[in-house]
Amino acid sequence: MKVAILGGSGKTGRAVGAALAQAGVATRPLGRAAFDDLPAALDGADAVHVIAPNLLPDEPAYVADALAAAGEAGVGRVVYHSVASPYVPAMPHHLGKAVSEDLVRRSGLDWTILQPCAYVQNLVPALRAAADASGVLEVPYAVDRPFGMVDLLDVAAATAAVLTTPGHVGATYELGGPALVTVADIAAAAGLTARRVEAEADVHPWLRAMFDYYDDHGLPTGGVPLAALIGRAPATVADVLARTFS
Ligand SMILES: NC(=O)c1ccc[n+]([C@@H]2O[C@H](COP(=O)([O-])OP(=O)(O)OC[C@H]3O[C@@H](n4cnc5c(N)ncnc54)[C@H](OP(=O)(O)O)[C@@H]3O)[C@@H](O)[C@H]2O)c1
Repeated sequence: MKVAILGGSGKTGRAVGAALAQAGVATRPLGRAAFDDLPAALDGADAVHVIAPNLLPDEPAYVADALAAAGEAGVGRVVYHSVASPYVPAMPHHLGKAVSEDLVRRSGLDWTILQPCAYVQNLVPALRAAADASGVLEVPYAVDRPFGMVDLLDVAAATAAVLTTPGHVGATYELGGPALVTVADIAAAAGLTARRVEAEADVHPWLRAMFDYYDDHGLPTGGVPLAALIGRAPATVADVLARTFS
């Protein structure tokens, strides 16, 4: 089996590529140059995993191009990397994924959609900085809201499972970690405290919208599908921190 990974040279794509390689699957990581001739880039693949770069201005156009190219290249299987709670009109980059999910479901291909929560790994640079300096983890949103923070490596393992085992065509899986946690919980797991700070003035407006949403609601995400897909308990925040900082 051969899987083309669009966005394969990015943070998520590299993790998925490693998980697929571990499962014995040949992978073809593709970056932006693949868009020069996408059908040719997908030629000979059995499946394509579609991951859009972060904060792409027009994700539905990116996904539509990928789906059209897959059809043209005769690639019948697609897995789309979406996000937890895609239909949130207050968060434009989530809404772009909701629109893209609709394109995937109407593509005529054999599709699966994955909806991961925020990765624990996103907070590692800030945790490292806090540990080196003030001992206070600073984030630009409330530190007491619930998130289904998930280990990127577990998300990658679930993606490999979806691509290599039967029964996932037409399925949409929300991928949260094993428990809802707050940023304060994550800081405590690292022996730190947490504090909300104002976002930097020049922050991307879509991130500002996300921080506003997180301030009010966090991003609670269910953990049952991930455990079922990977066949074991997903990593806790403490597990990820122990692996990362040891
Ligand atoms: N971080 C999270 O917690 C989280 C949670 C859920 C979902 N997600 C979603 O996961 C996705 C991937 O995130 P990531 O951080 O892994 O992405 P990333 O590192 O920003 O992805 C970069 C990849 O996209 C390609 N790329 C960049 N600009 C491009 C363009 N204009 N046209 C075509 N390809 C382009 C890059 O290719 P080159 O190497 O050629 O530059 C590279 O392969 C995002 O859509 C994000 O919303 C993230």
